[in-house]
Amino acid sequence: MEYKVTLIPGDGIGPEIIGEAKKVLETVGEQYGHVFNFTEVLMGGASIDAYGEPLTAETLETAKNSDAVLLGAVGGDVGKTSWYSLPPEKRPEAGLLGIRKGLELFANVRPALLFDELKGACPLKDEISKGGFDFVVMRELTGGLYFGDRYTKEVNGLMTAVDTLTYNEDEIRRIAKWGFEFAMKRRKKVTSVDKANVLDSSRLWRKVVAEVAKDYPEVTLENMLVDNCAMQLVKDPSQFDVILTENMFGDILSDEASMVTGSIGMLPSASLGKTKLGLYEPSHGSAPDIAGQDKANPIATILSAGMMLRYSFDLTKEADAIDAAVKKVLESGYRTGDIYSEGKTLVGTKKMGELICDAIKGLK
Ligand code: IPM
Ligand code: MG
Repeated sequence: MEYKVTLIPGDGIGPEIIGEAKKVLETVGEQYGHVFNFTEVLMGGASIDAYGEPLTAETLETAKNSDAVLLGAVGGDVGKTSWYSLPPEKRPEAGLLGIRKGLELFANVRPALLFDELKGACPLKDEISKGGFDFVVMRELTGGLYFGDRYTKEVNGLMTAVDTLTYNEDEIRRIAKWGFEFAMKRRKKVTSVDKANVLDSSRLWRKVVAEVAKDYPEVTLENMLVDNCAMQLVKDPSQFDVILTENMFGDILSDEASMVTGSIGMLPSASLGKTKLGLYEPSHGSAPDIAGQDKANPIATILSAGMMLRYSFDLTKEADAIDAAVKKVLESGYRTGDIYSEGKTLVGTKKMGELICDAIKGLK
């Protein structure tokens, strides 16, 4: 088959990690008889530098006309680039929010998996991590606080800032369905996270999620307050299967989830919507401090490419091959700096990409 893939390298380490993911996709194409036609476009700071805005209409159009989008990372060092002296809607992150909204990608899937080979990197005590954990954060991505009206103005002589958090029942229902659908393919447990003891939006969330749950009698639904969830994630992450939550809580909890795995450089993500067109990106940021030094871990982006094969193209066997190749390279002891421990072989971004390509060839 032939697939149109929009590549958005972005900023910082983005171009390096996207370069390796592209090589991996080309290798999969050669080995399994598919053609990936890549179109590379700018977004974030790179787009600001070239066109004065973080997401151009052309970039969005290219993305809309493709089968899937693979993104590196956007943004830079707040203190060091001029991007952050621009108004908020012109900064790199606005490009990311804009493309998610523009492609109507309301479901963000962020797996948090403790790799056996990397258990040593987990910052939790052995007695907590020894059984491992494997859960996903299903984050609502195009509503809530990040997309509500906001302004800053003087009220009664005081500068006052307002952000609004709005959810309607349809927005809640569609993400809840995704959460339950995912749980059905996993260990059949949904933990819906909210702040229903304070927020109206959370009370509606809880009500709608309970309604959706009726269509999934096999799935156990548990409600958890977000502050408790933040605590439970470090106390016993193995209790979770699917964490279903709104935009801001999901943003915060998914960072915490990735940290407890000890290897944020390993975690992919998928942003999905009503159609097969999805956007795939590593869960980590643009790491400007190590950009251009061949130090970044390309695995999260490579696994994101695997998620793209799985969710947008239904290429299960090929996606499995990417996951297996990553595992094999880790088993052989190769590590980038972020996951390095004594006795292992330290490699750079490019070498890690090559090793994974070789492993894919070896699996065939
Ligand atoms: C993320 C990031 C973005 C978000 C920022 C950069 C806008 O933190 O993907 O989690 O909040 O969604
Ligand atoms: Mg975030």
